Amino acid sequence: MLFRLTVVLAALQVAFASFQTPLNFASPSTNQPLGSPSSFPSEDVGNQTITTLHLSSITSEDTYTTLNHPNFPYHQVRVKKSNFCDPSVNVYTGYLDVAQGAKHLFFYFFESRNDPDNDDVMMWINGGPGCSSSMGLLMELGPCQIDMKNVSSNGTTWNPYSWNERANIFFLDQPIGVGFSYSDHGITVETTEDAAKDVYAFISIFFETFSQFSGRPFHMSGESYGGRYLPVFASEIVDRNQVAKAEGRPTINLKSVLIGNGNTGIASQYSGRFEIECGGAALDVPFQSINTCVRMKMALPRCQEAMRRNCVDHFDAINCQAALTFCDDELSSGMWSSGRNVYDISKMCVGDDLCYAENEVIKSFLDLPSTRTLLGVESPNNFSACSSTVGRNFVSHMDKWNTPTQYYVAGLLERGIRMLIYAGTYDWQCNWVSNKIWVDAMEWSGAEEYARTEWRDWGVDGVKAGETKSAGSLTFATILGAGHMVPHDKPVESLAMVLRWIGGETL
Ligand SMILES: *[C@@H]1O[C@H](CO)[C@@H](O)[C@H](O)[C@H]1NC(C)=O
Ligand SMILES: *[C@@H]1O[C@H](CO)[C@@H](O)[C@H](O)[C@H]1NC(C)=O
Ligand SMILES: *[C@@H]1O[C@H](CO)[C@@H](O)[C@H](O)[C@H]1NC(C)=O
Ligand SMILES: *[C@@H]1O[C@H](CO)[C@@H](O)[C@H](O)[C@H]1NC(C)=O
Repeated sequence: MLFRLTVVLAALQVAFASFQTPLNFASPSTNQPLGSPSSFPSEDVGNQTITTLHLSSITSEDTYTTLNHPNFPYHQVRVKKSNFCDPSVNVYTGYLDVAQGAKHLFFYFFESRNDPDNDDVMMWINGGPGCSSSMGLLMELGPCQIDMKNVSSNGTTWNPYSWNERANIFFLDQPIGVGFSYSDHGITVETTEDAAKDVYAFISIFFETFSQFSGRPFHMSGESYGGRYLPVFASEIVDRNQVAKAEGRPTINLKSVLIGNGNTGIASQYSGRFEIECGGAALDVPFQSINTCVRMKMALPRCQEAMRRNCVDHFDAINCQAALTFCDDELSSGMWSSGRNVYDISKMCVGDDLCYAENEVIKSFLDLPSTRTLLGVESPNNFSACSSTVGRNFVSHMDKWNTPTQYYVAGLLERGIRMLIYAGTYDWQCNWVSNKIWVDAMEWSGAEEYARTEWRDWGVDGVKAGETKSAGSLTFATILGAGHMVPHDKPVESLAMVLRWIGGETL
C-alpha cells in the first residue's frame, strides 16, 4: 500500500531534511511545496506500526508485512517469506519504500546456512550501472542458479558454493529503475552519490528493523560498476555513523568491502586492456592480431594523456568525453570485433553484448507470472538484466569518470574498513591489470608497506588459485582463469576466498 499523494508531497521536505545532506537537494522529488507533516505518521501508519521484529515472526508467503520505524518515519519496509531458491534456509523478499513510498527498492534476503543468529551480514550488488543483482544471485554466488539444463521443476538448481554458506546475505536491486526496483512520479536516481542515500536508508532500516541483526558485522560486496558504487556507499555509512554516534543512535557495524573486477581507477582501464589483449597478462600467447596490437600500442600514449588531462587531473565533461571516444575507437573496437567475450577472453561472446546464454533464460524465468508472485514483485516493468535507461542517465552525468573513486577507497582504509580488491584474470572489461595499477598508485598511509610486500600464491587444498598481497586493511587478489564473474567461473575458489575474508584470515 502506498501513502496518499497529498501527504507524500507535504512530508517530502522533512523527509529529505532529516535524511539527506544539503548537497542532495537537487533531487527532483524535493521540489515540492512545504506543508505540515504533523498528521503523517499517526494517520497513515495506523495499525500497521510495527517497529522491530524478528524475521522468524514473518510467516506469510502471500502478503507483505509492513514495518515502520520511529527513527525513519518517512520510509517503510514490506517483507514476506518466500519459498524461493534455497529450501534449506528462511528466505524473505520485499521492498523498502523510501521517501514517502515514491521509491521502491527490491531485495532478496537469505539466511545463512550455518548459524543465522550469529553469522555476519553481507550485501551483494551488481554493477552496470543499471544491472540487477538477481544476475549475481542466479549466475554467480546465490543459493540457487538458473537451470540451464532443464533438470529442475522450479527453474533453479541448488548451489553448494553460495556465499550464504556462512553469512546472511541480501541482494539489492539498486538504484530505482533496476531489476524489480521502481519509482513513482518519474523519479530517477542518476549518480552514484545520490544512489548512496537510498542504499544507506535501506541498510540502516534493515539493521534497525530486524532487531536480531543489530550491531552484526556487515560486509558490502559486488562487482564491476560496484567498484564505483561500493566505495561511495561504504563511505556514506562511515560518515553517517559519525553523526548517528554523536546523536546516540545505533551505528552500522561495517567491517569490510569486497570488490570483484571493479571499475574503480578509470585512468588505467585502457592500458590494462592492452595488456590483457596484446600482452601476457591473461593468456600466454595473445589472441589479438599483431596488426591491431601495433595500432593499439601507438594510440595508447595519446589516449592516456588525453584522459589524464581531461578526466583525471581536471575533469571537463566535454573534453573527457572526447578523450573516451578516441580511446574506445582505438583501443576497444578491436576487442569487440574479435567476437570474444569481453568478460572472459577465453570464450566467445554469445547472445547480446552481455555475452552469456544465461541472460535470456534468467529474464524468461523472472518474467514468469508465477515467479513474480513467488517473489512478491510489484514493479510495473518487465525484468531487464540491465536497464538501459539507468545506464544512460548515469552516463549523462559522466558518473563513471567524474570522480576518482580510489579517493573513497583510501578514505575507508584510513578509517579501518577492510578492503578486498579481487579480480579474475580473464576479464577484459574491468581487468586485473587496471585494478593492480590503481591499487599500486593509491595514496594512503599503508602505501609504502603495500609496495614493499611480496606477492604470494593463494590456493584451495594445495592448488594455486591466484596471487595476493596485503598491507594494513588492504588485500589484493587475483583468481587465475576466472573472468569478470569470478563466482560463476571459479565457485570453489570464490567461496573459499570469501569465507577466509569474512573470517578475518589471510587468503
Ligand atoms: C486497529 O486494530 C483494531 C484491532 O485489530 C481494530 O479494532 C481497529 O479498528 C483498527 N484501527 C484502525 C484505524 O484501523
Ligand atoms: C527445456 O524445456 C523446454 C520445454 O519443456 C524446451 O522448450 C527447451 O528447449 C528445453 N531446453 C533445453 C536446454 O533442453
Ligand atoms: C528446485 O529444484 C531443484 C532441483 O529439482 C532442487 O534441488 C531445489 O531444492 C528446488 N528449489 C526449491 C526452492 O524448492
Ligand atoms: C512485458 O512483457 C509482455 C510480454 O512480452 C508485454 O506484453 C508487456 O507489454 C510488457 N510490459 C511492459 C511494461 O513492458
